[in-house]
Amino acid sequence: MARDAGVRGHRAPTPMLLLSLLLSAAPFGLLGEETRQVSLEVIPGWLGNPQNLLHIRAVGTNSTLHYVWSSLGPPAVVLVATNTPHSTLSVNWSRLLSPEPDGGLIVLPKDSIQFSSALVFTRLLEFDGTNVSNMAAEPPGKPYPPYSLAEFSWNNITDSLDPATLSATFQGRPTHDPTRAFANGSLAFRVQAFSRSGRPAQPPRLLHTADTSQLEVALVGASPQGNCSLFGLEVATLGQGPDCPSIQEQHSIDDEYAPAIFQSPIVRAFFGPQNNFCAFNLTFGASTGPGYWDQHYLSWSMLVGVGPPPMDALSPLVLGIMAVALGAPGLILLGGGLVLLLRHKQSSEYQSIN
Ligand SMILES: *[C@@H]1O[C@H](CO)[C@@H](O)[C@H](O)[C@H]1NC(C)=O
Ligand SMILES: *[C@@H]1O[C@H](CO)[C@@H](O)[C@H](O)[C@H]1NC(C)=O
Ligand SMILES: *[C@@H]1O[C@H](CO)[C@@H](O)[C@H](O)[C@H]1NC(C)=O
Ligand SMILES: *[C@@H]1O[C@H](CO)[C@@H](O)[C@H](O)[C@H]1NC(C)=O
Ligand SMILES: *[C@@H]1O[C@H](CO)[C@@H](O)[C@H](O)[C@H]1NC(C)=O
Ligand SMILES: *[C@@H]1O[C@H](CO)[C@@H](O)[C@H](O)[C@H]1NC(C)=O
Ligand SMILES: *[C@@H]1O[C@H](CO)[C@@H](O)[C@H](O)[C@H]1NC(C)=O
Repeated sequence: MARDAGVRGHRAPTPMLLLSLLLSAAPFGLLGEETRQVSLEVIPGWLGNPQNLLHIRAVGTNSTLHYVWSSLGPPAVVLVATNTPHSTLSVNWSRLLSPEPDGGLIVLPKDSIQFSSALVFTRLLEFDGTNVSNMAAEPPGKPYPPYSLAEFSWNNITDSLDPATLSATFQGRPTHDPTRAFANGSLAFRVQAFSRSGRPAQPPRLLHTADTSQLEVALVGASPQGNCSLFGLEVATLGQGPDCPSIQEQHSIDDEYAPAIFQSPIVRAFFGPQNNFCAFNLTFGASTGPGYWDQHYLSWSMLVGVGPPPMDALSPLVLGIMAVALGAPGLILLGGGLVLLLRHKQSSEYQSIN
């Protein structure tokens, strides 16, 4: 049985509230390109420095979306929307890899930028789900030591780049793995862009548009730290204004914590020094029923993009869905579905956790 669970952790807002929040926050004039010319480019490293920098450029009639994905530091994406089909990304590697990477990533012309934001995937969380009955509890069980994604080593994305599906995969494992939990396992971030709206063949089949790209995070083959482990991701984004405005509860990270998280150079490189970050935990899975422990496979899909979420999010097709209107206008991170793969047993039956 395939199982679909929304991003969990807090009470889901009602769909109508969600829609109005996102619509009112959408950047003016950028919405609704029906098709985009999408290109994926791995930006070559510098002086033999093996670094992964993936630029996805999605060009519409009068706007461009730039997604810059990198595993320089923890996996991160910088999303920039411009009001011209001609904007370009410029990378200065010597600056990007320096201790002060400010200005190492630039989108030109600067005055075409309508919106920019970033997401950083900082830690893989693991919890002991034994005896957890209240799935809305935070944290969902006793936390095990988390894995810092800044201390993972990642594959060469060039080898995974697939122009046919407009996708690429960052696959990593801890650099130091004393318990050998990842001896046979990996954590993968598969990024896919779309030139028009549609629905992938694989569950959870989130509806996408040309204004979004899909991120699928898969934990495969790693040994859990307990018999009933639940997993989650810690995600950080840039805050705007004094608070972390969101429909989901978030925590503002204090300055002491922030520099450690934002050693992700690409975020600093584009935005310069920042001291206002918001972080939140996305946890998923249920301690009853099928779990990671069954087949050591867990995959979780979400959409990242600008504008309102595809209307499908509001239909019962994708259940238990929960979106997060992150600190900046227009950014969507739409958590869609968790898929636990159970070998030999597959059905299209979807079940909400809520
Ligand atoms: C973008 O182009 C479309 C037609 O291609 C046009 O209808 C729309 O008004 C343009 N939007 C802006 C903000 O210029
Ligand atoms: C990745 O592999 C390509 C060739 O497949 C090579 O040109 C490039 O330098 C490699 N990049 C890294 C980061 O190792
Ligand atoms: C890149 O940045 C360095 C400073 O870190 C600067 O000296 C150099 O001129 C820049 N290169 C380009 C092409 O702008
Ligand atoms: C789970 O509950 C049982 C019975 O209440 C208890 O014996 C056991 O210690 C609990 N385990 C954990 C990990 O809390
Ligand atoms: C990794 O897989 C091999 C072969 O299946 C197995 O012998 C070994 O015990 C596994 N190691 C761990 C740490 O799970
Ligand atoms: C985990 O499972 C193993 C084998 O099924 C069992 O021996 C062990 O006691 C379990 N550990 C806990 C903490 O429940
Ligand atoms: C995420 O969960 C971990 C483990 O429970 C906790 O240490 C951390 O503070 C949480 N992060 C946020 C932003 O709530």
